[in-house]
Amino acid sequence: MKWAGEDCRMSVLLEYSVDNGIAVLVIDNPPVNALSQQVRQAIRESITAAEADDGVKAVVIACTGRTFSAGADIREFDAPVKDPSLPILNDFIESGTKPVVAALHGTTLGGGLELAMSCHYRVALTGTRVGLPEVHLGLIPGAGGTQRLPRLIGAEAAIEAITTGRHIPADEALGMGLLDDVVEDDVLQAAVSAAHRLVGEGHLSRTGDRDVNPESVQDGMFSKAKAVLAKRRRGFDAPQAAVDAIEWACATPITEGLQKERSCSNTLKASLQSKAQRHLFFAERLALKIPDIPKDTPLLDIATTGVIGAGTMGAGIAICLLNADLPVVLVETKQEALDRGLERIKKTLDRDVGRGRLASETRDARLARLTGALSLETLGSVDFVVEAAFESMQVKKQIFVELDTICKATAVLATNTSTLDINDIAAVTKSPDRVIGTHFFSPANVMKLLEVVRGTKTAKGVVATTMKLGRRIGKVPALSGVGYGFIGNRMLEDYVRESQMLLLDGASPAQVDRALEAWGMAMGPCAVMDLAGQDVSFLTRDQNRDLLPNDPLYCVPGDIMNAEGRLGQKTGKGFYQYPDGRTRQNDPEAIGLVSAAAEKLGVANRDKISDQEILDRCLHALINRGAQLLDDGIALRSSDIDVVWSAGYGFPAYRGGPMFYADSIGLDAIVQSFEEMAKTFGNEYGYWTPAPLLVKLATSGQTFADYDTDQRGDT
Ligand code: COA
Repeated sequence: MKWAGEDCRMSVLLEYSVDNGIAVLVIDNPPVNALSQQVRQAIRESITAAEADDGVKAVVIACTGRTFSAGADIREFDAPVKDPSLPILNDFIESGTKPVVAALHGTTLGGGLELAMSCHYRVALTGTRVGLPEVHLGLIPGAGGTQRLPRLIGAEAAIEAITTGRHIPADEALGMGLLDDVVEDDVLQAAVSAAHRLVGEGHLSRTGDRDVNPESVQDGMFSKAKAVLAKRRRGFDAPQAAVDAIEWACATPITEGLQKERSCSNTLKASLQSKAQRHLFFAERLALKIPDIPKDTPLLDIATTGVIGAGTMGAGIAICLLNADLPVVLVETKQEALDRGLERIKKTLDRDVGRGRLASETRDARLARLTGALSLETLGSVDFVVEAAFESMQVKKQIFVELDTICKATAVLATNTSTLDINDIAAVTKSPDRVIGTHFFSPANVMKLLEVVRGTKTAKGVVATTMKLGRRIGKVPALSGVGYGFIGNRMLEDYVRESQMLLLDGASPAQVDRALEAWGMAMGPCAVMDLAGQDVSFLTRDQNRDLLPNDPLYCVPGDIMNAEGRLGQKTGKGFYQYPDGRTRQNDPEAIGLVSAAAEKLGVANRDKISDQEILDRCLHALINRGAQLLDDGIALRSSDIDVVWSAGYGFPAYRGGPMFYADSIGLDAIVQSFEEMAKTFGNEYGYWTPAPLLVKLATSGQTFADYDTDQRGDT
C-alpha cells in the first residue's frame, strides 16, 4: 500500500508493508523527513489500518534517507495547524493497542523524537543523535516532548536537554533511558525483532503512564534553573517556558500537562520571538544559495589546507580546519612565532579534551594533521589557502604575488581581512578568479560567522566551494560584495558612530551599553570597542578617512581613548576601567575626557538622554546602512544581513536581526524617526537621510522581506 493522498506531492511519502505480523511504515519525505501534514495523515492512516488488521501484531516506524524525522515541518508554522496535529498523532500512537517501535537513525530531532517517545520502544543505529532543539526556534517541544522526556530521563536531565536543545549521542541517550537499544547495523531489522519480542511479552510500555522519577526533582530546582537561564539565555522566552512545562510534567497528570504544554506552545509559536528565530533558521540556509550560482556548479575538492600567519586569527582558523578533520600547513616567517601558534592550537585542543568535549585520540589525530612551516613554498600542493597575515595591503599583496606562483592552479587563495579591498589583492595575481575573501571573527574557532567576500573576478565555483567549506568547518557563512567593512563592519561603523555621538551629548558609556544590552545586544558598543581595542578601531578609521564623513565630531571619544593610551581591556582602561582585566567599571576619568572634548567642540551636554533615544539612534543608523548595502549590491538579501549580525555581532536572535527587526516595527516608522532626528540633531553629514531603498519600501508599504522575495532567484 502506498500513500500519496490527494494533496500529496507526487513523490511517495510513506510506504506500508506487512511481513510476518509486523507492519512496517517507512516515511520518505526528503531531505529530513519533516512531519508535514501529509506525512502525519499517512502515519495515522497506516496505524489505523494496522490496528484494524488482525494479521498485524505490531508496528515499526522508520524513515528512508539520511535521517529519521528531524521534526515538524517548520514551514507549516505560519499557517493554522491542519489535522492531525502532531500532538494528536502522538497521543494516538501512544494509546494504541499494538506495540509501535521506532527505528531511529541520523538526527532524530524535535517532532521526530517526540513521535519516537510516543512509540512503545525506541531502537537507534549507532551514530544517531537525538534532541529537542525547539528552543532555538523560540519554541518548546509542543507535541508531548516536555511531558514525555522527563518521564523517561528525569526532570533534571530533561531541563538540560530541552533548554540547550543539544544533540545527544545515541549511547548517551541509551544510558539516560531515552532509548531502549542501540545497534551497530540494520536498525530496521532490530526494530522488527523488538516488535516480535514486545508482542511475545504482551505488555505495552506507554511513556505517558510513567511518573517522573521523584529522585530527579529537587526543591527549588525549577526556579534555580530559570534564574540561571535568565542570565545564560538573557531575553529568550522559550527556555523559561520549557522549565515551566517540565515542572508541569512533575506535578500534574499527563493529560493536564499535555494540555498546558499545547497552550504554551501555541502562544510561543505566535510570538515575535519565535518568528524571528524561525526567520534566522531559514535565513542561514538561504544565505548559502547565491542567485547566479547554480546548485550544480562543480565544487573544488578540498582535501588539504594551508594557513598563513600563526597569530590569534591564524591559529583560530587552523583550529577550525583541523576540527573538520582537514590537514593544515601553518606558515609563519619566524620560528618563534610559529612555535607560539602551534602551542596555542595544542592548548586549545587540550582544553577541549579537559572539558570532555573532545576525545584525546581525536585530539592526537588532529594534531597529527598539523604541520608547521617557515616558507610559503610548502603550500605548493594544498587545495585551499587562508592568508591571515597582518592587516596591511602591502604585506598581503606581497604574499599573494608569491602564492600565485607557488600554489597549484586549482588552489583557492583566500585572504582573511576585515577591511581591505579583495579586488586590489586579486589584481596582483595572474588568476584573480581564484582569489576570495574569508572574514573570520575573533576568536575564529569560537565565533560562528564567516563573511565570504566575492571579488569582481572570483569564479562561481570558488564562491560555492568557499561557502561549502564554511559550513563544513561549522561556520555560518554569508556572502558579501567588496566594499569598506563588507556587511558587518560597515554597519558597525554607523552604529558605533551614533553611540559615540551619544557620549559627546552627555550619555555615559554605561548608559549607552545598558540600554542596548537591556534591549538584547550581547554587549553594548562602548564595551565592544574596549574589547576589540581602541587602537584597532582608530587605525581602521584613520586608514579610511576618505571613506568616512568629514565630521569633526566623528568618533571623537574613540580617538581620545586611543590618544590617551586607553586602549580598552588590554590596557586595563578605555571607556571603562578593568581592575581585573575583564570586568568593566565606570571610569569618571574617561567620562571627563569625553565631556571636555565635547565642550571644546561646542557640543552641548544634555542632562537627560532617554534609553529610547539611545536605541533609536544606534539601531536606526544600523538599519539604514543595511538598506544602503542592499541598494549598493554589497548584501544580496536583507536576510543575509540578519545572519551576519546575529551570528557575528551579538544581535539578539529573538529579534531576528536588524532588518527583520526593522520590518517588525514598520519601515514607515523608521523613516519618520529619521525626519525627527534630522530636525533635532541636524543632518549636515547625511546621517539622518534615509537610504533610498528604505524610503521606497516604506512608501509602498513593503518590508525588507518583500524586497528579498522580489530579488529571489536562488536556485
Ligand atoms: N522543517 C522544514 N524544513 C527543514 C527542517 C524542518 N524541521 N529541517 C531541515 N529543513 C530543511 C532545511 O531548511 C534545508 O532546506 P534547503 O535545502 O531548502 O535549504 C534542508 O532541510 C536541509 O537542512 P540543513 O539544515 O541544510 O541540513 P543539515 O544536514 O546541515 O542539518 C538538521 C540537518 C536536521 C540537523 C538541521 O536541518 C536541523 O537542525 N533542522 C531543524 C531541526 C529542528 O529544529 N526540529 C524541530 C522543529 S520544531
